[in-house]
Amino acid sequence: MAQSNNSIKKILIVAFALCIVCSVVVSTAAVALRPMQALNEELDRKTNILRVANLYEPDMDVEAAFAEIEPRVVDLRSGEYTDEFDPDTFDHFQAARDPASSRTLSGERDIAGLSRQENYATVYLVGDGDDPEQIIVPIRGQGLWGLMRGYMSIEGDGNTIVGITYYEHSETPGLGAEVNNPRWQSQWEGKQIYADDGSLTPAIRVARGSGSGEHEVDGLSGATLTSNGVTNMLQFWLSPEGFGEYLARFREDISLEEAQDADVELEAEGA
Ligand SMILES: Cc1cc2nc3c(=O)[nH]c(=O)nc-3n(C[C@H](O)[C@H](O)[C@H](O)COP(=O)(O)O)c2cc1C
Repeated sequence: MAQSNNSIKKILIVAFALCIVCSVVVSTAAVALRPMQALNEELDRKTNILRVANLYEPDMDVEAAFAEIEPRVVDLRSGEYTDEFDPDTFDHFQAARDPASSRTLSGERDIAGLSRQENYATVYLVGDGDDPEQIIVPIRGQGLWGLMRGYMSIEGDGNTIVGITYYEHSETPGLGAEVNNPRWQSQWEGKQIYADDGSLTPAIRVARGSGSGEHEVDGLSGATLTSNGVTNMLQFWLSPEGFGEYLARFREDISLEEAQDADVELEAEGA
């Protein structure tokens, strides 16, 4: 005799079959959409690079505009360019995970909260690559809730800021997420990273409250911890631990000799 539609066995078979069908549909969609997601993430990253350089316009062809920007891979330890990697495909996040192409950071040296740092990173040059109008460097570090990833654009003098932007963070909307508020971001333009005494230590910081002078911007209200995160990552990435050596080569107020002395000191510390 046929089983009733309400029998436990039939209900379980239908429920099980439904689960299988749904999980196949969801996993197929996730796998099929992954390349599209990756493309969109890449487009967003390029848009952010154009935006931080004040080159972005709504409805523009992002790929065409980005093709005008020259990527170069820098050896962070020497501040020199390297041709060891293809700048179009080099992934410095992957390099940071590989012990062969990165170093561990701990204690006072890890002010950005990274644990590991890659030895090489890609910079983006606007204008003539040998004498760029702008140098765009990647920055990252811990905010309150997690890692914040972004870019800073610096004029060809290696010192004057053009802008800052974050393309990935998990800070709270209305508080830490105000790092991407255009009004807060506009304060960065024209600020100086380094004091004019030739020091390789960055002077730029986010103030607690109102910022004053050429090395400070206003703190984010109600988000002191995110503001501190921004200061810490800039103090790290713009120091000789990050792009300090590289940027020193563009600065007029610092001699190459001083940059090399800092190299030697860093090597001695690392030994
Ligand atoms: C739900 C919630 C979300 C918060 N998000 C942030 C944040 O994204 N960034 C931040 O610095 N502080 C955030 N805070 C506040 C911090 O816990 C802390 O109080 C604040 O950073 C202190 O900043 P203030 O001295 O400017 O008030 C959040 C607090 C709450 C309750």
